[in-house]
Amino acid sequence: MTASNQEVSLGMPQLPAPAYPAEVLARLEADAKEVIARYPGSRSALLPLLHLVQSEEGYVSRTGMAFCADQLGLTTAEVTAVATFYTMYRRRPSGDYQVGVCTNTLCAVMGGDAIFDRLKEHLGVGNDETTDDGKVTLEHIECNAACDFAPVVMVNWEFFDNQTPESATRLVDDLIAGRTVEPTRGAPLCTYKDTARILAGFPDPRPGAVEASGGAGAASLIGLKLARGEAAPQARVVGPRGETPRGTKDVQPEDAAPHDPSPTEHLSSHDAPQKTSASDPEHPAGPAAEEGE
Ligand code: FES
Repeated sequence: MTASNQEVSLGMPQLPAPAYPAEVLARLEADAKEVIARYPGSRSALLPLLHLVQSEEGYVSRTGMAFCADQLGLTTAEVTAVATFYTMYRRRPSGDYQVGVCTNTLCAVMGGDAIFDRLKEHLGVGNDETTDDGKVTLEHIECNAACDFAPVVMVNWEFFDNQTPESATRLVDDLIAGRTVEPTRGAPLCTYKDTARILAGFPDPRPGAVEASGGAGAASLIGLKLARGEAAPQARVVGPRGETPRGTKDVQPEDAAPHDPSPTEHLSSHDAPQKTSASDPEHPAGPAAEEGE
């Protein structure tokens, strides 16, 4: 999506949001009633209602925000304040598949930066932009609490763990070609609109999808196992970079995180050894001092 497609505020009053077609409005009102009934105070239903309107149009439009305000007795300013605060709400039409590359600290140093750069080049889009066919929106995402599987890519909030620039490129090619892709763990992938409806609190109707959500993965559980004495203290899920750990006990296959290829095969720009005061005698105090100090 080019800059010219994006909403640009000129500081002028906007026309009232267009109305939903009657059939859509009736359906959304019935859904909203069901959502609101789950909460003791109706305004607590705002977050799921924003997901609900996102499931209709693929983003939270002004029409969607006006709908939420009407249903909950809020002002559109109050709804807008919430919708613009959380990054899971999109503010303009976007792709069927939101490909989020975690470039937060750990994923970045494990290859997330390299993945993001490769996908930008491969797809010909920048951050928060959509391919011309409307299939894929690429974006930076913050930590998704999956650091033990870094570097992580998420498609419509499903995990694709331990990615490389090559595997991520294959992933987006498969999405664009309409081939089935399987998340590393969790429920099967669905479109962004379908995901938004599930996030609004409606059941996932696909057979086996709920069961597939599963629990924590092996890489997340190893600390718990160590604490319980169920794993050898030296056990490692991933060995030190560039060397086979000596004197360490490998985790049993059922405990091992999926890790193909090795993270050493997809180094990011952050992987170069950093000088420390011990390795850089010319600058024993660490970072350079301010000029004049
Ligand atoms: S830094 Fe990427 S999931 Fe935490």
